[in-house]
Amino acid sequence: MIEPMTQVAHLSDLHLLEDNHEERRGAARRRLAYISLGRAYEPRARRDRAARALAAARSSGADHLVLTGDLTEDGAPAQFTILAELLAASGWAPERVTLIPGNHDAYDGAAAWDDALSGPLGAYRTTSTLGAPVRLHGLTILPLSTSVAQHYTRSRGELQEGALAAVESAAADSRRSGAALVLAMHHPPRRNPLLPLQWIDGFRDHVALGALLGAHDHVHVLHGHTHLATDHAVRPGATPRIFATEAVVDGSSPLRLYTARHGRLRPEARVALARLSLAPA
Ligand SMILES: [Fe+2]
Ligand SMILES: [Fe+2]
Repeated sequence: MIEPMTQVAHLSDLHLLEDNHEERRGAARRRLAYISLGRAYEPRARRDRAARALAAARSSGADHLVLTGDLTEDGAPAQFTILAELLAASGWAPERVTLIPGNHDAYDGAAAWDDALSGPLGAYRTTSTLGAPVRLHGLTILPLSTSVAQHYTRSRGELQEGALAAVESAAADSRRSGAALVLAMHHPPRRNPLLPLQWIDGFRDHVALGALLGAHDHVHVLHGHTHLATDHAVRPGATPRIFATEAVVDGSSPLRLYTARHGRLRPEARVALARLSLAPA
């Protein structure tokens, strides 16, 4: 008998931007100029890339889609509305999509993410509730936020209160059922080796989360933020369990696919640029 497998599609860092951003004035305009850091604004191009990446993820036949944060450029309400429109047009059923916030999604204020999930992204709330496991066949996804309210000159991350307990509980529960556990989060669960960068851009809870990853071989991480595709092992020489994907906003192959089987998550070969049609037309 062939054991059924669950396949997950992973996209990150869409950095969606509203068309009329040039109408911004004052602090909101300065914030956008700073955080874009030389990245061309091009709101339509960003939207097109996101639409094509979502379509490619859908046509892959994956069972579930995880978007690991920085979905918007700075968390402005109009940007979440664009995301909702793109998701609706993609044909992904909302109950098969998990969204989590990144540092960029909080620059407009601490409440921006909750407001979006209560508003335009309401259809995705059930499968995107922070700390609430999403149970699939042989795979559990735990949405986590590392997003904090901070000045736009910083991009650090930390887990919310109660998140570590939620990870422990989901790890025990998934171990009993034989499922692989995926922590969906934005920041990489590591310390930046350069102290000033750890202060500006680091993940605060790397020690505690690292201990949990070390204690549970069936726990994996999907993250964004680095805009790079990487596979990291929890221990030197071990099979990688921490996976990042290129940014949709500027990556050449931002879609990653993984298969859950026998309590483990394994990445598939990266999806080539040509298949995604992300090259300029
Ligand atoms: Fe990003
Ligand atoms: Fe980020």
